[in-house]
Amino acid sequence: MRTQSAADPLRQFQLWQEECREMPDSAVLATADHHGRPSARWVDVAYVDHGFVYFTNHASRKAADVAVNPVAALCFGWLDRGRQVRAEGPVGRLSEVESDAHFATLPRSIQLLAWSSDQRAEIGDRQVVRDRFGAERTRFTGQEIPRPGHWGGYRLTPQEMEFWQRRADEIQDRFRYLRQADGWRMVRIAP
Ligand SMILES: Cc1cc2nc3c(=O)[nH]c(=O)nc-3n(C[C@H](O)[C@H](O)[C@H](O)COP(=O)(O)O)c2cc1C
Repeated sequence: MRTQSAADPLRQFQLWQEECREMPDSAVLATADHHGRPSARWVDVAYVDHGFVYFTNHASRKAADVAVNPVAALCFGWLDRGRQVRAEGPVGRLSEVESDAHFATLPRSIQLLAWSSDQRAEIGDRQVVRDRFGAERTRFTGQEIPRPGHWGGYRLTPQEMEFWQRRADEIQDRFRYLRQADGWRMVRIAP
């Protein structure tokens, strides 16, 4: 695998992603609060540029965590292929312009949900969100839906990435990429 691996782990990630196209681009995002208490949840990684970009509600727990502790980890799994990719590094909010641009590409139903849910409040019933959704749909009838201020994107810029591949002989491949001042250093790690 070493000779076939891309020098840049983001490129290597894209190669695996292309080979595993049938799988959604979802990953488990792990964050920690100011006490260091971890929490993890799935997110959809909307796109990959010099980092991994996901979108969420700024009132959510994951957003509150990175506001006080701006580092996180993502873990992708293509489990039927025995593959895992891990990425760790600082997380920052996208610019308003970048978040607006992505919000504009979303289906209207997702845009309305972003207005209708704060991802934090306890609700007695689904109907609470359904009513809010209906009210927002009426409010925005015949108009483009602007991005709500409480919703936006985050980019995790990897400092370290790791690729794990199951092998038939049980000696799994494991490669770690470490960001250096002048590029990436790749090392093989014992499985
Ligand atoms: C496959 C999958 C993809 C998800 N994608 C997102 C996402 O892109 N953004 C998001 O805010 N929540 C997403 N969720 C919901 C989150 O896992 C989570 O329940 C929610 O964001 C609240 O998390 P928090 O309270 O830890 O912030 C997704 C859930 C699943 C199962």
